[in-house]
Amino acid sequence: MEIIHTIDAMHDAIKKERTNNKRIGFVATMGYLHQGHLSLIHICKQHTDFQVMSIFVNKMQFNDPRDYDTYPRNYDRDFALAKEAGVDLIFLPDDSEMYQNRLTYIDIEMMTSFLCGSARPGHFRGVLTVVAKLFNIVQPDVSVFGQKDIQQAVIIQKMVKDLNFPLAIIVAPIIRESDGLAMSSRNVHLKGDDRTNATCMYQSLKKAEELIQHGIIQANTIIPAMTDIIAAGKPKKIDYISIVDYETLQPVDSLKDKSVIAVAAFFGTTRLIDNMIVEKIGDSFTCVY
Ligand code: PAJ
Repeated sequence: MEIIHTIDAMHDAIKKERTNNKRIGFVATMGYLHQGHLSLIHICKQHTDFQVMSIFVNKMQFNDPRDYDTYPRNYDRDFALAKEAGVDLIFLPDDSEMYQNRLTYIDIEMMTSFLCGSARPGHFRGVLTVVAKLFNIVQPDVSVFGQKDIQQAVIIQKMVKDLNFPLAIIVAPIIRESDGLAMSSRNVHLKGDDRTNATCMYQSLKKAEELIQHGIIQANTIIPAMTDIIAAGKPKKIDYISIVDYETLQPVDSLKDKSVIAVAAFFGTTRLIDNMIVEKIGDSFTCVY
């Protein structure tokens, strides 16, 4: 497994693989890898021949400097896990390599100013800008993103479509701990009861599924039921519980053809998110979470 730090060296490495007719797969990460990240590599391997992973804690997407400073990092551990998962090349740039001139940015204001965007102003502008840069640096044929960060996955799909990036995006399932908590690099910050209580996020999605299977599809019934369950987990603050259209991310009154039920809450100082995709197939609804 090769580790590359510069954009020029990346272009050379990718050119070489392309002359060997390899299809390039790409997974973008901020490191501190867990099984969720590695599952994206496994999916990528099913579609491509050469796996690139980036590890870059992207300052531009952190609205809270303390969150950036305390973001967990352990590159040696990451290298070992990535190698074991079959990554061929790691791109590990530093800040100055990625942001020599920081004037251009990408945003989709209509889709980024609410849900996670309202609590984290500028976050998705930072995500879209770095992902666009990474796509141009890695030039992948396929890139896999997790459903875990559903707003991120949907806006990246939209950017790729609107700006004609020549690659396919795959959205991969959420990998969870055995008690249902969605895996996240930030889970390491959960202390004491917060770790167990945080499973209320997952429980609230299960409750929503139960209601949906009983034919209840109105947001004003599903959301209060979910709120009760999350409140019982004693979060420091519930950020949002929302039901939105999958394509536009705009709130809906009742479930449509494809919707997302998304939750965000603080446990201590740690902000956690989770979600479920609800799709109408024929007359019934399928929930994926
Ligand atoms: P990061 O949080 O490191 O996540 C990298 C990728 O792993 C994202 O696509 C995310 O959705 C996915 N992922 C995280 N937890 C997961 C889980 N439990 N199951 C499945 N997939 C999971 O997301 C980012 O980094 C950054 O915003 C990035 C896209 C790299 C841009 O800086």
